[in-house]
Amino acid sequence: MKHPVDPHVLYEASVQGTDVDIALFEKIFKRGPGRAPLTLREDFCGTGLLARDWVASDSRRSAWGVDLHQPTLTWARRHRLSTLPPEALERIHLLRQNVLHARTPPVDLVAALNFSYMIFRERSTLLAYFTSVYRSLVDDGVFVLDLFGGPHAQQVMTEEKDIPAGEDVEGTPYPAFTYVWEQARFNAVDQSILCHIHFKGRHLVSQTKAFTYAWRLWSITELRDLLAEAGFRQTDSYFEGWSDAHGSADGILRRRTRYEGMDAWVAYLAAYR
Ligand SMILES: C[S@@+](CC[C@H](N)C(=O)[O-])C[C@H]1O[C@@H](n2cnc3c(N)ncnc32)[C@H](O)[C@@H]1O
Repeated sequence: MKHPVDPHVLYEASVQGTDVDIALFEKIFKRGPGRAPLTLREDFCGTGLLARDWVASDSRRSAWGVDLHQPTLTWARRHRLSTLPPEALERIHLLRQNVLHARTPPVDLVAALNFSYMIFRERSTLLAYFTSVYRSLVDDGVFVLDLFGGPHAQQVMTEEKDIPAGEDVEGTPYPAFTYVWEQARFNAVDQSILCHIHFKGRHLVSQTKAFTYAWRLWSITELRDLLAEAGFRQTDSYFEGWSDAHGSADGILRRRTRYEGMDAWVAYLAAYR
C-alpha cells in the first residue's frame, strides 16, 4: 500500500540535520567569539525546524525564523512549534518577512542553510542581503551559510538517496523512500541552475517536482568577496573529509584553507562580524 506523506516531512527527513548544524554553530563560536551562542535567526526558515530544535536544545536559547511564505509558516506553527512545551514557545518567533528587510532584535547568529540565498541571482541583491545580515548581528555575531560545488555541481544529473523509514519530530511516521535531487539545467554563462526534488518509493505516493529551485550557483570566492564587502572581517570555510572505507564524505566538518580533488562537495561558511 502507498502512503501519502506531507512533502515538508519528506524534505526534512531527506536534507536537514539540525544536530549537525547546531554542533557546528557551537564549534564556530568556540573558535571565534569564544562564548556560547544564545540567539539565532533562521533565514528562509520554511518549516522552522532549526529554530525549533535550537530553542529545544537549551532553555537559555531563543530563535527568530524568517520566511516569506505564509502557508509554510502556518504549517510550521501547527506541526513544529506545537511540539514545544509552553515555556519554549515563548522563546521562538516566526515572522513573515522578506530576509532582505528582516527586522529582528540583534542576534548572535544568523543561519541561511540549504542554499536558500542562491535565489538571489544578482550580485547587488546578494550584497544587500549580506549587508542586512551584518546589521542584524550583535558586535561579535556570526553569519553561517552553506553552498555546494565541484565539477558535478555544473552537470545536468540526477542523484538518489535512500531514506530509511522513521518519524518526524511530531511523531508522524513515514515509510522508507528515495529522495531524488535533479539538476535539470545549468547555464555556464550566468551560472543559473534549475533543480528539482522528487520523492518516490514502494510504499509512498510519489511526488514529482515536490520542490523546485531556480538559483545562481555562487562560488566560494564570490561569496567571500561579497561578505567582505558587506563588512564581515573574516570568513572561514568548513568542509567534510573523505572516508575511503565508506566511499563517501565522512560527515566531520573541519575548517580548511585547501580542498582538492573532490567532484562534488558541500561547504559551510562562517562569516565573523
Ligand atoms: C529551501 S527552503 C529552506 C528550508 C529550510 N530553511 C532548510 O534549511 O532546508 C527555502 C525557503 O525560502 C523562502 N524564501 C524565498 N525567498 C525568500 C525571501 N526573500 N525572504 C524570506 N524567505 C524567502 C521560501 O518561502 C522557502 O520556504
